[in-house]
Amino acid sequence: MNKLILSPEEIQEINAEISHYPDKAAVAIEALKIVQKHRRWVSDECLVAVAELLDMQPAQLEGVATFYNLIYRQPVGKTVIHYCNSVTCWMLGGDRVGELLCRHLNVGLGEMSADGEYTVLPIVCLGACDHAPVAMVGDELRLDLTEDAVNEILGR
Ligand code: FES
Repeated sequence: MNKLILSPEEIQEINAEISHYPDKAAVAIEALKIVQKHRRWVSDECLVAVAELLDMQPAQLEGVATFYNLIYRQPVGKTVIHYCNSVTCWMLGGDRVGELLCRHLNVGLGEMSADGEYTVLPIVCLGACDHAPVAMVGDELRLDLTEDAVNEILGR
């Protein structure tokens, strides 16, 4: 029983979601988000356990996880910084923001900083193009990013 890898809280929360829908697979993203809320990321073992709980094939659920880019399939830092790399931000230095973040943290994209605090990832348009370049720092939207703002985000 793979689902034993999930905590009682995770199973309870996922079952609560399942109770709202006739088809268990309808809660696939929510179930993955629940696991991620508890563990920060979704390991292969957890993905298989969730698939079992939802009567889905692991490959099917993996497809959902891959399509939804806010499900992390490898360990991430306590705060994930998503910098926008869509066209407006890109034209106004979005990639430079990503480079600065990675350089200051000494990580590549998707890697966790040595202190376990941060992971940097690109993301598509955050809908704040008039304030480009922008990033989500955890749950907080940061606008009009400059090098100073990047330093401030990282507490430097
Ligand atoms: S292009 Fe970056 S917020 Fe729209």
